[in-house]
Amino acid sequence: HGAVWAEQRKLSPENLLVITVATEETDGFLRFMRTAQEFNYTVKVLGLGEEWKGGDVARTVGGGQKVRWLKKEVQKHSEKTELVIMFVDSYDVIFASGPEELLSKFSRLGHKVIFSAEGFCWPDQRLASKYPEVRTGKRYLNSGGFIGYAPEISAIVQQWKYKDSDDDQLFYTRIYLDKTHRTKFNMTLDHRSRIFQNLNGAVDEVVLKFERAKVRARNVAYDTLPVVIHGNGPTKLQLNYLGNYVPTVWTYETGCGICDEDLLFFSEDKQMPLVYVAVFIEHATPFMEEFLERLSTLNYPKTRIRLFIHNNVVYHERHIQKFWERHRSLFPDARVVGPEENLKEDEARTMAVEVCKKDPECDYYFSIDSDVALTNPDILRILMEENKSVIAPMLSKHGKLWSNFWGALSPEGYYSRSEDYIEIVQGKRVGLWNVPYITQVYLIKGSVLRTKLSQVSLYMDEGGMDADMVFCRSIRDQGVFMYVSNRDEFGRLVASSNYNTSRLHPDMWQIFDNPVDWKEKYVHENYSKIFEDEKTYVEQPCPDVYWFPAFSDKMCDHMVETMEDCGEWSGGTHKDERLAGGYENVPTVDIHMNQIGFEKEWLKFLKDYISPVTEKLYPGYYPRAQAIMNFVVRYRPDEQPLLRPHHDSSTFTINIALNRKDIDYEGGGCRFLRYDCKVESPRKGWSFMHPGRLTHYHEGLRVTKGTRYIMVSFVDP
Ligand code: UDX
Repeated sequence: HGAVWAEQRKLSPENLLVITVATEETDGFLRFMRTAQEFNYTVKVLGLGEEWKGGDVARTVGGGQKVRWLKKEVQKHSEKTELVIMFVDSYDVIFASGPEELLSKFSRLGHKVIFSAEGFCWPDQRLASKYPEVRTGKRYLNSGGFIGYAPEISAIVQQWKYKDSDDDQLFYTRIYLDKTHRTKFNMTLDHRSRIFQNLNGAVDEVVLKFERAKVRARNVAYDTLPVVIHGNGPTKLQLNYLGNYVPTVWTYETGCGICDEDLLFFSEDKQMPLVYVAVFIEHATPFMEEFLERLSTLNYPKTRIRLFIHNNVVYHERHIQKFWERHRSLFPDARVVGPEENLKEDEARTMAVEVCKKDPECDYYFSIDSDVALTNPDILRILMEENKSVIAPMLSKHGKLWSNFWGALSPEGYYSRSEDYIEIVQGKRVGLWNVPYITQVYLIKGSVLRTKLSQVSLYMDEGGMDADMVFCRSIRDQGVFMYVSNRDEFGRLVASSNYNTSRLHPDMWQIFDNPVDWKEKYVHENYSKIFEDEKTYVEQPCPDVYWFPAFSDKMCDHMVETMEDCGEWSGGTHKDERLAGGYENVPTVDIHMNQIGFEKEWLKFLKDYISPVTEKLYPGYYPRAQAIMNFVVRYRPDEQPLLRPHHDSSTFTINIALNRKDIDYEGGGCRFLRYDCKVESPRKGWSFMHPGRLTHYHEGLRVTKGTRYIMVSFVDP
């Protein structure tokens, strides 16, 4: 062990120089530098701003240019026997620990030059058998990371006399495989990833190791904690995943460690950036009016927005038309491409993005699909402030794991669940996440479109792959990072797959698929306040008759319009074929919920919205929320104007007024005979709730003019 001890000097960080190559400040390079700064590495960057002539290293051989630059640089240090030089790639490398640990490991390994190792013999497999055998660990040299004393490193790279596009790894491999050189330079490979972790062929060996305020990568095959993590070859996405944590990007103790770095700030007095907002309506989508309306309520100067809408759905033309009538003045330069132009999705997306690409004034491109409900009006400013090339707000379907990003990619390029996916969707880990796939809504910097992405077709591909897949692949291939942020609440995704536009008001049927949007649209705005402030929002006009806000105006209108559209009003006689016995004791002119196919939806409404009120007002009674008789009644002077006194066959009854007294009709109301108590001014959208079959003998008062509509449900018959 004499030789080993001889090498075990105490090395100090001042004697370490890290050298890397980067022709461009890619997102990967910036990530590398951030981790270097975190540990106070001294880094010399070669090649910035120069043209890359090292070939397409991602696909084939190359990289020689790195050695040429390195050769020149280390010449300056060739005499410094105390200096340790480490060369690493930069686009796909991060540091997991600092110089002290690095140098102590280097020193303990007892060699003058150490190259990283991997399981593939690249680029010339015929050389595999020439490598010394190893009992455990990776056998072959990788040139993306090596460390050694300056004189030896210098002597090695001085041998470079090849082309920029020749292969650097082959060059170093030949030297290593030459026994005389290997001995002379005292070279070895880091077979068990004590210092360098190459991920290619080793992805399954590397896991995150969470410590309190930092995160490392652990090699579980050799039980080591490597210092340099290199996503060589096709493992860039795995590195991105590790890089979302290592070394302090996200930790249990401090949460997101990078979120407040490099933020942009916009001062009030300065003009906001110009953003091209492109809206894509590619399929029929529920709650389209609300979607469009939110564009007008974005908290962003409209003069700094250029709106583009691709609508591919004839059914939605009416919504755009209505939106236009209201808000055209806000978006004077807007461009709408309708279904008649027969544009395919990828063509439409290309058309929209090209406009920003070609306009040097376009600061941002914001793409949003119709099934995105952005409830945060500050979204544009928030995303801009994050200062990323490409960023998406994290959104999911209400209460579901379905979201607008993927945490990982399967080998075939499709969805794969990353280990942290659920925690991110549920907001248990909050931060900015570098992910392989985003969709439906994102912001791209105009400058990135015009530089790194200028030559790529972002959405079109010969293979006929979906536009969103092509988009993400194009971005990834350019080494541009896509982030998804769950730092703020942005909104949700709307489910559109079961949307049946053959109905008059199809959104009414969305209570199951899109319960939040349904509530916002169809439930009275004061409904929820019942549970906060019962005294103000629930009245008791007659004994045990409660009166509370239930439906929004829209729900009332849509219900009435749907019934009139259906038109199958009953005759108001005792004979009623819709009933099991064929006989109605207290007939009205009405249409049942099942006649418009709304029975299931109605029962869901009872369960979700009426039961909670019942439990509050009649404590101790837990409704089963069953009801067979659910219908809309129509009273008119010349048809059926009133209803004689009767009991309801229910435990309790709800009765919701669907239109306005003195505007839509005159007269009307309800009288409870036992208490001789009348409610003569029903309020639109408000519901009565009263016991049914025993105490509350009641009658419907005469309508003298116009038409009155009420929605009635006999609950728990
Ligand atoms: C692998 C090996 O690790 C590497 O040593 C060899 O040169 C090529 O194959 P890989 O990780 O697949 O490299 O390639 P990549 O990271 O894309 O490129 C290697 C490094 O070259 C980059 O990290 C970066 O430091 C530099 N580079 C590459 C540039 O500076 N500009 C470029 O345009 C491309």
